[in-house]
Amino acid sequence: MSVSTAVCAPLPVLGRDVTVPLVTGGEVTYAALDYAASAPALQRVWDDVAAYAPYYGSVHRGAGYLSQLSTDLFENARRTVAEFLDCRADDQLVFTRSTTDSLNLLAAALPADCQVFVFETEHHASLLPWKNARVTYLDAPRTPQQAVRTLERALADRTVSIEGGYGPALVCVTGASNVTGELWPVRELAAAAHAHGARIVLDAAQLAPHHPVSVQDLDVDWVAFSGHKLYAPFGSGVLAGRADWLREAEPYLAGGGASRKVTRREDGGVDVEWHESAARHEAGSPNVIGAYSIASACKALTEAGFDDLVAREQYLIEKVRAGLAEVPEVRVLSLFGDDAPRVGVISFVVDGWNSSHFAAALSAEYGIGVRDGLFCAHPLVRTLLGSDPQAQGECGAPEAAPGEKSLNAIRVSFGAGTPDEHVERFVEAVKELVTDGAKWNYRTEDGRCVPDTSA
Ligand SMILES: Cc1ncc(COP(=O)(O)O)c(C=O)c1O
Repeated sequence: MSVSTAVCAPLPVLGRDVTVPLVTGGEVTYAALDYAASAPALQRVWDDVAAYAPYYGSVHRGAGYLSQLSTDLFENARRTVAEFLDCRADDQLVFTRSTTDSLNLLAAALPADCQVFVFETEHHASLLPWKNARVTYLDAPRTPQQAVRTLERALADRTVSIEGGYGPALVCVTGASNVTGELWPVRELAAAAHAHGARIVLDAAQLAPHHPVSVQDLDVDWVAFSGHKLYAPFGSGVLAGRADWLREAEPYLAGGGASRKVTRREDGGVDVEWHESAARHEAGSPNVIGAYSIASACKALTEAGFDDLVAREQYLIEKVRAGLAEVPEVRVLSLFGDDAPRVGVISFVVDGWNSSHFAAALSAEYGIGVRDGLFCAHPLVRTLLGSDPQAQGECGAPEAAPGEKSLNAIRVSFGAGTPDEHVERFVEAVKELVTDGAKWNYRTEDGRCVPDTSA
């Protein structure tokens, strides 16, 4: 596997100079390779938030100058993010807490008798919120084309109502897998959904930080993502898309901000007129810093240029994959195969190693932060490993002999702020651990593998 040259420098992020102690002695700069969980804040985002902080004020409420400034900032952030997502003119953009919150909001806004279609490969945030709908879980496809065919078949088979037509239906699909990093054929799935009278929501939690997302070009009905994976870790997320279901739904939270008018009735109760705008689902004091930070990240990524960012990330992906390919004990997990386009999220298992042990050694002996486990996508990891993810391995004791099935996996993930040195250190560390073994002893504590410092 050949590795091309990087085209641009990493974007400045917070924490790039942070040093961490090694269990073997000394310190190293921390290599944050868990971007898929939470990415570090862009320096630009931090600077924008710091510059705004003294002007912070209540949104939509106060008569004072700073309240008005903060309200403008919040509403401008909404416009900036809608532009970033290339939303339609009549779409609504609701600021939420996260992708999970966005999808739960949409789940609460489903029309009566809505049928939901979701692949078993989804992150639990996409898999689980539909508890009040009839859900069809689709089997893991092995190619993008098979994903489209599976969806088409399921939609064609769906229940016909007594009136003879189809009821409302929603497809929920990820743009990029949080386990394999593989890109899903979103445009084709959207076309299939629409051809069968269904709507589609895109879980862009792992896509938006790595690729431009155009609601109009992909022709999706909604898109959801989180600020903390988009270099803006200030507690906000986004749900953007069609206004009708959102407008017709009960407010996600009942309270101030969502209500336009509240009156006492003669019988002693209260009548409420709810807003029909995004405010309907943003009750309570909005997280203006969260919203502003997402807008700042959107601007920073757009200005840096996704062409360059994607090219740089592909260079890092090739570097990691080429390095791992040199280690026969490593198996990279994939649904769609080696050639599938992907973002900088790579999961793997190492023959003879407990994944938790391996990840703990990467941290304690090399200062590298990755993630191990099932990545909130149990059915997908079960399919990829062919094992029962409920089972627990014992740290320190190899969980799987060479050729046997692993119980969980290791995930390395990176993005716009990742320097070459982090992925180079990671590849060298994997090779050294596999060849020489861990230099330290580890034990299980509260279900986690930790260095044994008792001796
Ligand atoms: C694909 C995907 N969807 C949804 C989520 C949930 O995001 P959050 O935890 O920010 O709600 C994640 C988080 O890892 C994810 O990877």
